[in-house]
Amino acid sequence: MGHGIAEVAAISGMEVKLIDVSWDILNRAKERMTDSLKRLYERGVIKDSPDSIMSLIEMSVSYDVAKSVDFAIEAVPEILDLKRKVFNELDKVVPKESILATNTSSIPISDVAETTSRKQKVIGMHFFNPPPLMKLVEVIPSKYTSEETVDFTVDLSKKMGKTPVRLRVEVPGFVSNRIFLRLLQEACREVEAGEATIEEVDSTARNKLNLPMGIFELADYVGLDVVVDLWKVIVERGASDVKCSSFKRKVEAKELGVKTGKGFYTYPSPGKYSKV
Ligand code: 3HC
Repeated sequence: MGHGIAEVAAISGMEVKLIDVSWDILNRAKERMTDSLKRLYERGVIKDSPDSIMSLIEMSVSYDVAKSVDFAIEAVPEILDLKRKVFNELDKVVPKESILATNTSSIPISDVAETTSRKQKVIGMHFFNPPPLMKLVEVIPSKYTSEETVDFTVDLSKKMGKTPVRLRVEVPGFVSNRIFLRLLQEACREVEAGEATIEEVDSTARNKLNLPMGIFELADYVGLDVVVDLWKVIVERGASDVKCSSFKRKVEAKELGVKTGKGFYTYPSPGKYSKV
C-alpha cells in the first residue's frame, strides 16, 4: 500500500520520501510504481512521464529523510505495537507542526496517537487497493484530533485526486470495512452451508451488485491474511460474527491470494492480479 500511496502523491506533483526496512522491499516498490505509472501513462490517465514522476520520490531505509516533511503517512502492517513503534520514531523526526497519518483499516487512531507528543495532529487516512485507481479515502479523526488537522487531511486527499469521506465517529472497521466484513461473512456462510459455490457467489456479486470483482476474488486481491486480521479486529471490538472457517484455513495453508499466487483462485504470476 505504501508504494501506491507514494505514487499517488507524486502523480499530484508532491515531493515524496518513501521509507521502508530494506532496499529489497524498496526496489520492489520502485518496480511496481514504475509499472503502474507506465500503465497510467499509456492509458492517458497521467500526462507527465513515469520518469519525471518517479524523480519526485526519494527512497530511504532511514527515518532521517522525514525531518523536512509536512505530512507523514504510515502504512505498516495492522499490528498495533508496530504502528506505535513507527509513530514513536516519526514523532521524534518529523517537524512538530507536521501531521502524522496512519493508513489503517481497523486500528483505533487514538491508540496510535497516544504514543506521540502531538495527539491533536494524528489522524487516520485509509486508502484502498490499488491506491492509484481507487478514489475513496476515509479520513478518521480520533477523540484528540483537531479540526485543523481534519481540514488539512481532507484538502490533501482532494489534492491527491481522491474523494475523502470524513468519519463522524471512530468505529472499528470505519465505514467501508464494516460493509466489506458483512459481504465476506454472508458469502462465506452461503458457501459453507452448501447454498452456492464460490464462483456462483462471485458471479452474483459481479452481475447483480455490479462489483468490479467477486467477493472471494476481492478477498484474494486484498490478501486473505489482511482479511482475517480485519475480521478479527472488528469482531473483537463488538461487531457480530458468523461461523466461517474457509478464510482461516486458507491463511493456515499460506494461500494468501494474489500475493502468493493462490487463494480461492489461482494466479499465474504471484503479486499480479490476473486469474486463471
Ligand atoms: N496501476 C495502474 N493501472 C492499473 C493498476 C495499477 N495498480 N491495476 C490495474 N490497472 C489497469 C490495468 O492495466 C487495466 O488497464 P487496461 O484497461 O488499459 O488494460 C485497467 O486498470 C483495468 O484492470 P484489469 O483489466 O486488470 O482488471 P479490472 O478491470 O478488474 O480492474 C481493478 C482492476 C481496478 C482493481 C478493479 O477490479 C477493481 O476496482 N476492483 C475492486 C478493488 C477494490 O474494491 N479495492 C478495495 C479493496 S479493500 C481495501 O483495500 C481496504 C483494506 O483496508 C482492506
